Amino acid sequence: MKKGLLWTAGLLLTMGFSVHSQDNSMKLDFDGAEQVINKNIYGQFAEHLGRCIYDGIWVGPDSDIPNENGYRKDVLEALKELQIPVLRWPGGCFADTYHWKDGVGPVSERPQIKNVFWGGTVENNSFGTHEFLNLCEMIGADAYISANVGSGTVQEMVEWIEYMVSDDDVPMANWRRENGREAPWDVKFLGVGNESWGCGGDMTPEYYSDLLRQYSLYARQYGQGKFQRVGCGANGFDVRWTDVVMKNAHRNMDALSVHYYTIATGDWGYKSPATGFDETLYIKGLSQGLRMDDLITQHAAAMDKYDPEKNIGLLVDEWGIWTEVEPGTEPGFLFQQNSMRDALIAATTFDIFHRHADRVQMANIAQVVNVLQAMILTEGDKMIKTPTYHVFKMYSGHQDATYIPVSLSSEEYKVGDIAIPTVSGTASTKDGKVNVSLSNTNPHKAIKVIVDLGSGKVKKVNNGVVLTAPAFNAINTFDKADVVAPAAFKNYKLSKNTLEVTLPAMAVVNLELQ
Ligand code: AHR
Repeated sequence: MKKGLLWTAGLLLTMGFSVHSQDNSMKLDFDGAEQVINKNIYGQFAEHLGRCIYDGIWVGPDSDIPNENGYRKDVLEALKELQIPVLRWPGGCFADTYHWKDGVGPVSERPQIKNVFWGGTVENNSFGTHEFLNLCEMIGADAYISANVGSGTVQEMVEWIEYMVSDDDVPMANWRRENGREAPWDVKFLGVGNESWGCGGDMTPEYYSDLLRQYSLYARQYGQGKFQRVGCGANGFDVRWTDVVMKNAHRNMDALSVHYYTIATGDWGYKSPATGFDETLYIKGLSQGLRMDDLITQHAAAMDKYDPEKNIGLLVDEWGIWTEVEPGTEPGFLFQQNSMRDALIAATTFDIFHRHADRVQMANIAQVVNVLQAMILTEGDKMIKTPTYHVFKMYSGHQDATYIPVSLSSEEYKVGDIAIPTVSGTASTKDGKVNVSLSNTNPHKAIKVIVDLGSGKVKKVNNGVVLTAPAFNAINTFDKADVVAPAAFKNYKLSKNTLEVTLPAMAVVNLELQ
């Protein structure tokens, strides 16, 4: 694991970086701009885990917390503002224990179940298929359903599909109508199992590939052309999983997932705290996050062998920093704070996803509210937006824009034996506008970055936004909600085709040009 913490010049070169350079610069190659950045890279994930669904999104219609038919109003507004393209549900590990029929029909008749993976809480199923799919419609997100392969059956999955998307006069669609929903919902993605190598069934890739073929066949029969079937992908760098599943089942899926979590220490036994960490854990967190580039490169190479045309999307449908839980909270609830470090991990990860836009077609950060690297934290009737939320919003101009390849030259930021590039960045164009995003990972000094706009015909800067903080471990709290908050940014100079940007220490900046 230690080896992965060290940056080598070779690795950086594969990322289009030149390091040890004294100047910090980014060159945009407008002539090479052809690949669209799938908006679904900005996707989210909501699991029945801790206080994500209950408390975080759903309080029920009788709650004192202001709500719209049971959904928290404050969270709904914040989610709408974020323009979430796609939302994955109901898990996670929970998905392979979930039996969807428990979550439809009159709420008072829904059974209680034990959430065996997450804290052993009793789940009352008041948030089920209707509540999830209606939420997607309310916030304008596409639905990504994770079907139960680990402890379910083909029949159970097929009936769920029929319930959700069929318009025929068939038993499940009629049951949906009886339960108050006439028209089918528009489900865009169906995951065939989750982490089938672990909590989703402890399977080998050979065994899982056979199940994928079987489940996928019936998923297609009953949901013909209605959704993409997503094969369950690998655990981090387990490229063998990808290789076997692609070899045996590439004709049986439309996309394949992969999960990668950033563990700052590199040790699942003791992850970094989310707050109060030192500079070594700061740079280790960023460095471990940057491994996403190598991870995608390796899985994409395995996929290329069986799918050179890149028809099968790679979906990083769980990612983000995973820290120790906040002291005093239930360990199984995975509730962690969110700092400026996490904001930089989000920004630098998006820069990586953009570079791989030809293969990466979706990503779902874990998770949307109150769990892991969350966008939103709640406490009673209070809600705050995290530094990560702000990065998602600042980067929203890149959704469905055309990626402009960039070459970066960066000085090094080093702590002990760990070094990473100081500058990260990306660019894209849509509707005659160009979005340039830049990050400075160094918490000690501002840096000047020269952006060469090449053949781009840029006349003006429409808008600049910066996210920075008083410290790399700064967080927003329920008492001080705006310690890490976006502000207007003007520290740039545009002359001819060069943009000179002075980035504050530890900062993310987005500039919209025209
Ligand atoms: O996001 C938390 C958990 O992490 C998910 O339930 C599981 O898929 C992964 O191991």
